[in-house]
Amino acid sequence: MLSLLLSLALSSPTTAVRNGLGRTPQMGWNNWNSLGCDVSQDLLLSTSKVLLDTGLRDVGYNYVLLDDCWQGERGADGYITVDAAKFPMGMKPISDRLHDDGLLFGMYSSAGELTCAKHEGSLDHEVADAQSYASWGVDYLKYDNCYPLGRSGTPKISFDRYNAMAQALKATGRSIFYSLCSWGEDYVHSWGMSIANSWRVSGDIYDHFNRPDILCSCTDPRDPHCAAPGTHCSVMNIVNRVAAYVDRGGPGGWNDLDMLEVGQGGMTDDEYVAHFSLWAALKSPLLIGADIRTLPAKALTILNNPAVIAVNQDPIGRPAMRVRQDMNVKKDKYGEGEVQIWSGPLYPHDQLVLLVNAADEDMTITTDLNEIFVHEGPEGSAPQTKHKYAIHDLWADRMSDREAERILKNGIKSDSHAWYNATETGYKDGLLAGDERLLGRKIGEISPKSAELKVKIPRHGVKMYRLRAPGDVPARYALTKQEL
Ligand code: GAL
Repeated sequence: MLSLLLSLALSSPTTAVRNGLGRTPQMGWNNWNSLGCDVSQDLLLSTSKVLLDTGLRDVGYNYVLLDDCWQGERGADGYITVDAAKFPMGMKPISDRLHDDGLLFGMYSSAGELTCAKHEGSLDHEVADAQSYASWGVDYLKYDNCYPLGRSGTPKISFDRYNAMAQALKATGRSIFYSLCSWGEDYVHSWGMSIANSWRVSGDIYDHFNRPDILCSCTDPRDPHCAAPGTHCSVMNIVNRVAAYVDRGGPGGWNDLDMLEVGQGGMTDDEYVAHFSLWAALKSPLLIGADIRTLPAKALTILNNPAVIAVNQDPIGRPAMRVRQDMNVKKDKYGEGEVQIWSGPLYPHDQLVLLVNAADEDMTITTDLNEIFVHEGPEGSAPQTKHKYAIHDLWADRMSDREAERILKNGIKSDSHAWYNATETGYKDGLLAGDERLLGRKIGEISPKSAELKVKIPRHGVKMYRLRAPGDVPARYALTKQEL
């Protein structure tokens, strides 16, 4: 018996935080970007219905996350109360309803005296608050960074403050996904993995592709000492910030590039496609920030693309890394403009290539196998450069606007199209089975002989490809039995 227990313990999957959660980046919806403090039980219940009706739950978005502003007073007994006007039923009936619908429930607090919207925070109340969350059936905690009573400024001080809640959550015995929101401060990328399932890497995102803003003051992405990560951080600002340590994310703990702005209206369709592709490739959580009760059809066709989501939910969980940043391109009125190429392994022996045209004009961009596999060996020395690959375009089969309009009007059930249902078959199993909807559409080949990949990309657009190696190439990243 002892040896059986020992071998089970030794063979269990090891993730740093060891709560078994976050094997792939979390997916779901959060109210903050679109609704701020305007939260209520009706919002959560009506949104969860939309997640089901539109098929967004089944394509993977299964966390319903309530952000700031749900709190009442802290009682004399030390326990937090819920704002009874917004949540007359209390939280437990809400989590019960969500669980009945196959969804998971997340809440928010701050590792501070107050939350960012100045409600009761959890600093020095970690045990009581974790007990409340567990008793309410909460599955996820987003834990913010406002009003920390001066307890920040070094990795150790911040680690201790966030670890207090990690331990309190663990002590409840309930499985609770732990999401840090310390905006990249105090080198969280170097210690987040030890206690949490994800950690924010920047100040708050806003609905712009690349416009610099003084409120996102950390304009030098290489400065790890950014004192005021702030808000109003553009898509490209956040991408440039995380680029140097994107590899710190992996199964069990992920770099969080912040909630998605797709569907909010401030960016062009190309920009939203680029934003979503980057978040998927860099293995950020995919948390819809728009009010999905009024979602535009075009936004739905971005958020529900299973070939792109499959990259994010890939079983080996390796974030793509940047292989090129070219600043020598046409700049816009903000002085911004660049081209980037990102590349990374996908299960079983495929390779992701993401070409980003952030220049201020349409461009033809060229790359080759040596550049795509540079992280596997410099100057063409990587063995992967010797193979031939089929090129699969991951946006080629994007849903039509008409189909999305029908779904938003009538619901997914009344629609006959073959849409990927990850509730029935998870992404890992779909990929293992070679499901065409996850692999994208084959558009050509690249080989050591015809080594160039040359594509025209619109301003602020992307091309996202899965290079598929022939089946006889051995898988580069073996999965353990548990992972399979
Ligand atoms: C910010 C956080 C946002 C949101 C907000 C709520 O600090 O980064 O994502 O949670 O607080 O007040």
